[in-house]
Amino acid sequence: MTVQQLDMDDSNSELCALICERIAASPQRRITFAKYMDLALYHPQHGYYNSDRPSIGKQGDFITSSHWGADFAEVLADQFVEMWELLDRPFNFAIVEMGAGRGNFAENVLQYLQRQYPDLFQILEYIIIEVSPVLQAEQRQVLADIKCVKWCNWDEIINNSIVGCFFSNELVDALPVHQFILEQGQVREIYVAAEIPKNEQEEIKFVEVVGEVSTPKIAEYFDLVSIDLSASVYGDGYRSEVNLVALDWMSTVAQKLQRGYLLTIDYGYPAHRYYNPRRSEGTLQCYYHHRYHNNPYINVGRQDLTAHVNFTALERQGELCGLDVVGFTQQALFLMALGLGDRLASLSTNDAEVLDVATFLRRREALHQLIDPMGLGGFGVLVQSKGLREEEKVHEAKLSRRESLKGFTVP
Ligand SMILES: C[S@@+](CC[C@H](N)C(=O)[O-])C[C@H]1O[C@@H](n2cnc3c(N)ncnc32)[C@H](O)[C@@H]1O
Repeated sequence: MTVQQLDMDDSNSELCALICERIAASPQRRITFAKYMDLALYHPQHGYYNSDRPSIGKQGDFITSSHWGADFAEVLADQFVEMWELLDRPFNFAIVEMGAGRGNFAENVLQYLQRQYPDLFQILEYIIIEVSPVLQAEQRQVLADIKCVKWCNWDEIINNSIVGCFFSNELVDALPVHQFILEQGQVREIYVAAEIPKNEQEEIKFVEVVGEVSTPKIAEYFDLVSIDLSASVYGDGYRSEVNLVALDWMSTVAQKLQRGYLLTIDYGYPAHRYYNPRRSEGTLQCYYHHRYHNNPYINVGRQDLTAHVNFTALERQGELCGLDVVGFTQQALFLMALGLGDRLASLSTNDAEVLDVATFLRRREALHQLIDPMGLGGFGVLVQSKGLREEEKVHEAKLSRRESLKGFTVP
């Protein structure tokens, strides 16, 4: 199958050449789509997240909740404080942020805790795990004055050592996914190959080829999430993605967490909606200058590639690794339960008088963006826990399963 090229292509030619070399050196001259996505996003010199142009924010390709002012971080900081209290105020509490982007979330959380909860701020360790050297450098600049922050890779965190909360916003959607297609009732994998240019003027062209699955883990994944792709509702040509890296990530977090929580925010669905037979083209999307399309073979290294998150897979894999589900809800409800509604109300009543009109409108727009059900407000929020002591479990049992943390109470 040849992928149609769009008119405009802003690919990084060095990256294309590198991917081409990798393809040429691979068996059958093809790489999995997951490998392609990994190189396109995270190649240490030329990958999208290591380019010199900002990827996230108004000047970049997409805006995350962390870029709509400080409110998102501040209400989540209130949730971290409740977690700290439920864990009995341990002196070694850590927040581990995975995939910290440009560092705004960490900065806003830490400034808020310093102002409002100095007793937690005093003992807090804020650990960042960040794969992109360029973004890590930016985070180090933004957070240079805050002493409790450190950067680690997974190997530097001892197993069973973290008491606190692992947190990520829009990390899991950025992990490389395998792509598959159904052919005559069989699950087949989509690989990426390259058409060698016939002369110097021609560009490298990436093409898709279909073959046998690269790993038995793909079949195991569908068992894990109870999806039967051999059911007659799935027609030939149905294609979608499988995020195996997310399962490994979940196992690693569970391994490192001794006692506390994992809070994951991202766009996605439970498995039955993700693999709805009508969603026959999957969820892969490319972001380029605040526009999205579905051709991952143009603008290589200059556009973001993402796939929605299968929250059932995160829940089930977590359970296998000893993580209990505390609750799953939508970002709008979670933030409202944590006080975003009060912030909106006080903006209309009090602050309107002290803010100039432009600042007032900007802040109101930001708060609305965070809870817009068609946008960020519709994101999923999953909280899992490990090693909660008996009295905390009693606290959970007393309230319903969904109400064990403030974020899961009815706003
Ligand atoms: C879509 S951005 C979200 C950034 C930030 N959380 C925010 O809300 O603005 C994804 C982030 O995850 C990072 N990332 C991707 N894969 C990662 C991994 N395996 N480990 C750590 N960070 C990763 C990227 O470099 C980037 O910082």
